Amino acid sequence: MRPEVARRWIGRWDAQQQAHLPDREERFTALIDAVEECAGRPDPLIIDLGCGPGSLAVRLLGRVPGATVVAIDRDPVLLELGRAAWAGRMGGGTAAGLRFADLDLEVPGWSAALGLGRPADAAVSTTALHWLAPGALGPLYAEVAGLLRPGGLLLNGDHLAEDQAAAPVLARLGWALIEREERRRAPGGRGETWDGWWAAVTAEPDLAGPVAERARRAPPAAHHGSPSGLLATHVNALRAAGFGEVGTLWQRGASRLLCAVR
Ligand SMILES: C[S@@+](CC[C@H](N)C(=O)[O-])C[C@H]1O[C@@H](n2cnc3c(N)ncnc32)[C@H](O)[C@@H]1O
Repeated sequence: MRPEVARRWIGRWDAQQQAHLPDREERFTALIDAVEECAGRPDPLIIDLGCGPGSLAVRLLGRVPGATVVAIDRDPVLLELGRAAWAGRMGGGTAAGLRFADLDLEVPGWSAALGLGRPADAAVSTTALHWLAPGALGPLYAEVAGLLRPGGLLLNGDHLAEDQAAAPVLARLGWALIEREERRRAPGGRGETWDGWWAAVTAEPDLAGPVAERARRAPPAAHHGSPSGLLATHVNALRAAGFGEVGTLWQRGASRLLCAVR
C-alpha cells in the first residue's frame, strides 16, 4: 500500500477516535510530556501497547526524534496501515525510530519476541488496555514491570471509570463530562463511527491480505462493561505487579492518564 493511501486511512482513524474522545490530542500531549520529563536521555526506549496504526508512536517520535518506539498490536489491518504509512520512520533492529510487532498482549511471554536489548524507559498505551480481559491485566503489568528500568513509567491514557456500585455519582459524572465536551466541540454530531470506519477500510482492495488474516484470527472478546474499564482494576493490578507510585496525571471525567512508576 502506498504511504499516502495508508496515511489517508489513518487520518480517518484519528478523526473517528477523536469523535469519542474529544481530548485525545491533549491526552497524547500530556503523556508525551511525562515521557520527556522522566526519560533522562535523548534516546529513550519506549513500548506502545495496543498501538493501532501508530498514532501515538508517530507523535512521540515527532517530539522525541532520538527515541526508539516498539509498537505492539494484534490487529493485522492496523499494523499494515502503520507499517505502510510510517515506513520512513522505521528503524532497523534496535535503531532509533519506529518498529511494529504483531503480538497478542493477552498471551503471557509476548515480550520475549521483542529483542529490546536494554530496559525500556517507558511503556505507553492509549485507548487499548480496557480491551484486555480483566484476568490478563495482572500478567501484562507484571511483564511490563520486568521490561522497565527502575524509575521507568507505565503511562496509560484510557477511559477508566469509577466503580458504579461504590461511587455512582462520580461514575455518572465521569461519562457526562466527556459527552458534554464532545457536544461542545462537535455540535453537529460525531461524524464517522467505529463500525463505519471498519466497514470502509475492510473494503479497501490494497488491504485484502490483512483483512483476510484479521477474519481468520479470533476476534477480541466484547469489552463494554468489563471490569477492565474500571480505574480500580488497573490500580490494583499495577500495585500487585510491584509498581510503587500509581496515580492519575491528567483527567477529564473518566478519560485519564494513569501513571505508574516502576
Ligand atoms: C481503540 S484502538 C487504539 C489504538 C491506538 N492506541 C490509538 O490510540 O489510536 C485499541 C487497540 O488495542 C489493540 N488490542 C486490543 N487487544 C489487544 C491484545 N490482546 N493485544 C494487542 N493489541 C490489542 C487493538 O487491536 C487496537 O489496535
